[in-house]
Amino acid sequence: MLIDTHCHIHEADYPLPAVEVLARAHAAGVDKMFCVGTSGQSSADAVRFAAKHNETAAIIGVHPHEAKHGWAKIGELLQGDRSKIIGIGEIGLDYFYDYSPRHQQIEALEQQIELALKYGLPISFHVREAFDDFWPIFDNFHAIRGVMHSFTDSSVNLEQGLKRGLCVGVNGISTFTRDEVQQAVFATIPLERLLFETDAPFLTPVPFRGKINEPAFVRNVAEHWVGVKGVAFDEMASATTANASALFSL
Ligand code: NI
Repeated sequence: MLIDTHCHIHEADYPLPAVEVLARAHAAGVDKMFCVGTSGQSSADAVRFAAKHNETAAIIGVHPHEAKHGWAKIGELLQGDRSKIIGIGEIGLDYFYDYSPRHQQIEALEQQIELALKYGLPISFHVREAFDDFWPIFDNFHAIRGVMHSFTDSSVNLEQGLKRGLCVGVNGISTFTRDEVQQAVFATIPLERLLFETDAPFLTPVPFRGKINEPAFVRNVAEHWVGVKGVAFDEMASATTANASALFSL
């Protein structure tokens, strides 16, 4: 069994029909999918979607791009039915796009870390070109559990995350990037911290480049990593599923 630990198939504008997407995931051996919020609305949609579809669960949060619109909705959702909410995310800092002013990104990150700790939930972090600001913020808190989602940074920041106990989420980028330095960093991620994700509808893995991404394709990410780590597919699948189950308390 495989888990897609980060997808956005619950979004109102996700272009594929949910029933078909879930059936193809099941056929590919992807029996669990985590639907990750990016805004208040998207997080509410993730909770609603997860309530309707047994094989999905919700991770709720306001993405750094949306930080300027506030995160009040996340607190509200946590006061409601939390039975399908397994984490907080995606939250973090994005200094590559800077769609929200940095001080608001930082405030949203800190406030949502507080919520995660208050409710004992792990966090899916989105950090892009911003680790220098991220680590001091992270270190102001205690006992954060989480994953560096869509990790594409340096060996230095990989090491910083690993020593803080974080898991590392990899997706289609690992199947198609020609950046040899990045590939070398990917290869050093320890199996016991590795999580697979699609980030669907984005970042479609090889050999489906050009198509809309969907959770079934996490199988292609896993198959790629068989070559990277040199372990059998079944071992790869059970190790990463165990990692995701432990982090998100499935
Ligand atoms: Ni995402």
